[in-house]
Amino acid sequence: MRGGLTRRVLVASGLLAMIIGTGFAVLLSSVSDLDDLQRRARQSEEVLVAANRLQRIIIDAETGQRGFLLTGLTGYLQPWDAARAAFPAGAASLRSLVAGNAEQEARALRIERAGVSYLRDYSVPLVTAARRDRTSVDAAAATREGKRRVDVIRAEFDRLLAVQRTLAAERQRRSDDADGRAAAAAVVGLGGSIVLVALFAAHLARTIAHPVRRVAAMAGRLADGDLGARVQERHGVGEIAALQRGFNTMATALEENRRELAASRARIVAAADRERRRIERDLHDGIQQRLVSLVLELHAVEAVAPPGTPELRAQLADVAQGLTEAVDELRELSRGIHPAILSEGGLGPALKALARRSPVPVELDVDVPSRPPERVEVAAYFVVSEALANAVKHARASAVWVTALVRDGRLLVSVRDDGVGGATAGQGSGLIGLKDRVHTLNGALDVTSPPGRGTTLEADLPTADR
Ligand SMILES: Nc1ncnc2c1ncn2[C@@H]1O[C@H](COP(=O)(O)OP(=O)(O)O)[C@@H](O)[C@H]1O
Ligand SMILES: [Mg+2]
Repeated sequence: MRGGLTRRVLVASGLLAMIIGTGFAVLLSSVSDLDDLQRRARQSEEVLVAANRLQRIIIDAETGQRGFLLTGLTGYLQPWDAARAAFPAGAASLRSLVAGNAEQEARALRIERAGVSYLRDYSVPLVTAARRDRTSVDAAAATREGKRRVDVIRAEFDRLLAVQRTLAAERQRRSDDADGRAAAAAVVGLGGSIVLVALFAAHLARTIAHPVRRVAAMAGRLADGDLGARVQERHGVGEIAALQRGFNTMATALEENRRELAASRARIVAAADRERRRIERDLHDGIQQRLVSLVLELHAVEAVAPPGTPELRAQLADVAQGLTEAVDELRELSRGIHPAILSEGGLGPALKALARRSPVPVELDVDVPSRPPERVEVAAYFVVSEALANAVKHARASAVWVTALVRDGRLLVSVRDDGVGGATAGQGSGLIGLKDRVHTLNGALDVTSPPGRGTTLEADLPTADR
């Protein structure tokens, strides 16, 4: 499925991973920059300390030398000796600390050389000479010269320290910058991820959750019998579009099937009705007429029977009576198959005939001005005839009320008895058959039958011929 959900999810996940990954990379590089800068800041500090210490050594040497020259006290030579011993290591340490910065390295080297030269070429010969003979040394001149040389070295120290401080400040600034960058990367990465996750969730909701919910709602309507329910196929993506299409195809097929089923049921009922009508007509026009003429012939024979044969006359009369009863039974039977009076006179006379024949008293109220389609008339007739039969057979009713009227293009038939109630369609064949017949006409049949409170059958039949 090209462009399906799987691909979208993969692309979105990839994008998310990329953004988060970039955020982390920036963060990591900033943190490592920060480490580096902090290391360099520490180193700057160490350079400052080492330079100050070395300067201190030179000053100590110069102070000790001056003290000794001015007073001749060898106690002054103690710091001088210590300074001489400490200088080479201090100078080497300073040089190694500034290694990497050519300018500062050169400066440290100059300081080292100047220091070595001060100590070895100037201070040591001077002190050695003074030890031998203090008068041979002009203390004041030597002190001035010593101060001059030390000042030169100190000037070099001042420059080295100034440059180092500038470097330290610069490093601090860059370290602060890196700090800010790391924080910004963290904020942007986190914020970006949250926004992206939210967008992704919204996208999933829009492309998956909402359409699925709509399909589920439509499936619910379908389950409730609304076969016209369809989902819009406009916003479907990949698998969701397939689901929407599948749902609509299924609903269309179901609707089509139901239409065909209803049509075939209607055809079956119509065919059965046609057949019943034909049988009724055959019975009426054939056997019934034949039996009636046989009765007439019997009466004719009876009339010409020889006098003095009362037994023969009585027997002939009995046979004629039996035949008449058979004709009545046959008429009753064919009425059950198809009420000829309905086709001829319509619902009013047919229902009147039913009421007249009913053993339970019937109060009838018919208001059907024009004749509905025949299948509607037939259905209404059978509803009343079955309800009356039930009232006699099951209800132990004392009276039945029948109404049939037309309202808003619908024939409404109601049959109420005051019997024992408790009727349920499905226990026998009558009520269920009525339901089938009524549903075939897109009508509705309600049975209300609370135990002990009588039974009411209500049929609602559309009369408009479709
Ligand atoms: N008017 C009524 N009063 C009481 N019970 C009824 C009534 N109509 C039907 N019933 C009950 O409901 C069942 C179903 O009725 P129906 O479908 O007409 O079947 P049946 O072929 O037995 O008449 C009957 O068997 C009967 O027990
Ligand atoms: Mg019945």
